Amino acid sequence: MSEGLRYKVRAADEAGVRAAAKVLREGGLVAFPTETVYGLGADARNDRAVAAIFEAKGRPRFNPLIVHFRHLAAAAEETVFDSRARALAERFWPGPLSLVLPRAPGSRISLLCSAGLDTLAVRVPGHESAQALLNACALPIAAPSANPAGRISPTRAADVVAALGERVDLVLDGGPCPIGLESTVVDMSGAAPRLLRPGAVTREELEVELETLESGEAEGPLRAPGQLASHYAPEHPLLLDALRATQDQALLAFGPNPPRGAARTLNLSVSGDLREAAANLFAFLRALDEAPVSAIAVMPIPSYGLGAAINDRLARAAAPRDA
Ligand code: TXA
Ligand code: MG
Repeated sequence: MSEGLRYKVRAADEAGVRAAAKVLREGGLVAFPTETVYGLGADARNDRAVAAIFEAKGRPRFNPLIVHFRHLAAAAEETVFDSRARALAERFWPGPLSLVLPRAPGSRISLLCSAGLDTLAVRVPGHESAQALLNACALPIAAPSANPAGRISPTRAADVVAALGERVDLVLDGGPCPIGLESTVVDMSGAAPRLLRPGAVTREELEVELETLESGEAEGPLRAPGQLASHYAPEHPLLLDALRATQDQALLAFGPNPPRGAARTLNLSVSGDLREAAANLFAFLRALDEAPVSAIAVMPIPSYGLGAAINDRLARAAAPRDA
């Protein structure tokens, strides 16, 4: 890491959080930890600052951003909560759930965050450093995951520095993200709630609160562009549901007694624990991507609970790419 970059990384202590808040108030970009992944944050009311996020990520303009708030009351100033949305927020916030809601009339959130839609995705993160930053800057923070568009999301400050270092004004280092997968996204703006992206709040948990929950893309215009097929893509091809790996492949294992013979093996969870596997997923994909192999073989992961979100990310990482 160059001297310049080292200087930009600040521990998420009081002084670091104060410095980061100042950067945000001045319209700069701050990468910060949340319980899910690191976000690339900017003042959500500042059009130029939000535009700089898109530029830094190389993100297609039509992909909207999640805006982070201190608490439900702050989110409710910018979006319209019906009783179902309020029930979800009260149950799961602060935490890894993003709600897509109609923009409130008179909302001052940059229209770029909505990317042409009449909705806004909002979330109240639970991570201590994210909360400290939101309190210190007293701004809503627009933040996508802090990775170049289409690449693996960062779960450690070093991942952000490696991928976006030059393009961020300050990186707040709060250690590895405890969950390691992006938030669950639920669209509450239509007639029926719709699960747009599986995540740490599981379908099973949501169904306790909701009478119906549709899945995936709604008909009509693109509602969750993050659902573009190829995403989270490592450099090496990914082979899913692998039961063995050859000596020129790396193996992303799960559970006890993985097959032998791979050039390099990392086990998401020897005991088969899905939380542990989620927390390790992106860091292990990055590590195996560095190995001089022809492909990364991935063992089957069960699809219940957090496994649904893990398999969603793996399917996207394995999807055919344009470039
Ligand atoms: O855990 C997370 O959600 C992280 C941390 C930093 O909070 N953020 C994150 O942001 O994953 P991003 O931009 O990488 O993913 C946001 C997803 C995308 O799939 C996007 O298309 C969708 O949410 N989204 C955002 N606003 C939306 C809207 N108004 N309508 C539909 N989908 C939306
Ligand atoms: Mg992302």
